[in-house]
Amino acid sequence: MPFYHTLGHIPPKRHTQFGKPNGQGLYYEQLFGTIGFEGMSSLLYHVHRPTMVREVLESVDMAPKLAIQKNMLARKLIGFNIAPADDFLESRVPLLANNDLIFGLAAPRQSLTTYFYKNADADELLFVHRGSGRLRTLFGTIPFQYGDYLIIPRGIIYQIDFDTTDNRLLYVESHSPIYTPKRYRNQFGQLLEHSPFCERDIIRPRDLETHDETGDFLIKIKKQGSLHSLVYASHPFDVVGWDGYNYPYSFSIFNFEPITGRVHQPPPVHQTFQTDSFVVCSFVPRLYDYHPLAIPAPYNHSNIDSDEVIYYVDGDFMSRNDIAQGHITLHPGGIPHGPAPGAMERSIGKKETQEYAVMVDTFRPLMLTEQALKLDDGKYYKSWLD
Ligand SMILES: [Fe+2]
Repeated sequence: MPFYHTLGHIPPKRHTQFGKPNGQGLYYEQLFGTIGFEGMSSLLYHVHRPTMVREVLESVDMAPKLAIQKNMLARKLIGFNIAPADDFLESRVPLLANNDLIFGLAAPRQSLTTYFYKNADADELLFVHRGSGRLRTLFGTIPFQYGDYLIIPRGIIYQIDFDTTDNRLLYVESHSPIYTPKRYRNQFGQLLEHSPFCERDIIRPRDLETHDETGDFLIKIKKQGSLHSLVYASHPFDVVGWDGYNYPYSFSIFNFEPITGRVHQPPPVHQTFQTDSFVVCSFVPRLYDYHPLAIPAPYNHSNIDSDEVIYYVDGDFMSRNDIAQGHITLHPGGIPHGPAPGAMERSIGKKETQEYAVMVDTFRPLMLTEQALKLDDGKYYKSWLD
């Protein structure tokens, strides 16, 4: 996040001696950034050296199994049909992918406690559709519940606790960093008055865990599409303090303040996050357009240069027929799409919508995985016929 945060104890001057209590030596400083030495970074202070690899075990290929590389069909995927799985990583079902991102769903039944996880390839966005718990990281803990986006910059070691076994997540692994939209920030990074959210809505880590433990600690690290298993000699959560700008955070879709107008506003007013290769938008309950002749349903539009993915969270989605929670629509670039037959007429005179949805617009075409085809209803592309 482009604002400063600190937890625990840190020395008054960076890169200087920071002694442990009772003369037991020095803490170990680690600079943690993701774009060389130029991006946002944090300085962490470990009880043990964060470099003590004891053993390197097996590597497992995690690359999505692609079934369709050149997609030209609008599609609807029945997302809740994915099978739950006990393990947090094994529960992930990649559905759509390109060189920039992997988009998928997961229904993990169990907390991630038997190993630690780090994605060195990608920033992760987890949207919590069902379930609650705590994201535990070496930067501290972030409680989460329904409606939260969890943003985990690449390289952050974490575990996750779920309160129950009934959990539904949308996840995006992004090969470029995930930021809030630049146009809502001033030159100092502060969120501006026209931003649909402000710093108070950003939930930062708290309750730093400091484990002074040595032994065998398994960290599964995703790198180059493979999951590598490394055994470290010290507990990964052994930080006594940190400060800086690079850390995980959460933002609730319920805190997104919609921007409305007299006539239909374009999708960028819903934008919540940006990257170099895709944007994320939040559709939330809002008043409809108030011009006396307004048509609240969106107009047909040609997204020639981007693929559009919408994940339906809750409420009655006014522009479509036959849409339920967990459904995903994919509108590929190159062909126009628009409201379902009857939706335009149906929307006239309506005052508000209660819909919740998450949209991911990618600047390069998406490919479909084998698992995605199993969720495909096979007929959506004809849904604009009378
Ligand atoms: Fe659209």
